[in-house]
Amino acid sequence: MRILAFIGALAIIVAIGAAVFFFGGFYDVAENQDNPAIVDWALASIRGASVAGHATETPPASLDDPATVKAGARAYATIGCVNCHGGPPNANWAKWSEGLKPVPADLKVMAKERTASQLFWAIKSGIKFTGMPSFGLAGVSDQQIWTIVAFIKNLPSMSDEDYKTWIASP
Ligand code: HEC
Repeated sequence: MRILAFIGALAIIVAIGAAVFFFGGFYDVAENQDNPAIVDWALASIRGASVAGHATETPPASLDDPATVKAGARAYATIGCVNCHGGPPNANWAKWSEGLKPVPADLKVMAKERTASQLFWAIKSGIKFTGMPSFGLAGVSDQQIWTIVAFIKNLPSMSDEDYKTWIASP
């Protein structure tokens, strides 16, 4: 009985301590303050698990069709992704995106780590607590998001020259 009362009292003290810490303004929300490594690790693991757990839609057509990949390259270059993730030649991201934490994912790595369905879900839904916007919310169609997925999936084997000519041609 005594032990139970002790555990109960301890839980109440911890809860009050946490409330004072978070609501009393002691927790630092500054983007330029690092999280403890274990918090970053937990958040990245939660992101990966959540993306894998929610991605259910399958590609409507082949993602290797050159016309689809080109359309995706153009969409990628025009709707804002480059600002944060950069374009293949010289990275090319906007300077301010270096102030984002977590840093925007390297899409050449993501092309291998995530399935097409997972990429689609992440781009359409966005990712909470990162700077990654929901492009579904921003009004981009599913069809256009799939072309971007095709582009990302083909990124690892794409030359800078291909990218440059594709985004230039109408
Ligand atoms: C304002 C900056 C910003 C813009 C614009 C942006 N992203 Fe992101 N993106 C991020 C950040 C930050 C992350 C989180 C990094 C991480 O997952 O480790 C992210 C994550 C991702 C991921 C990985 C998601 C996962 O599974 O973990 C993909 C794929 C992605 N972005 C693709 C895109 C595409 C495609 C566009 C354009 C349609 C885009 N992003 C636009 C900042 C941005």
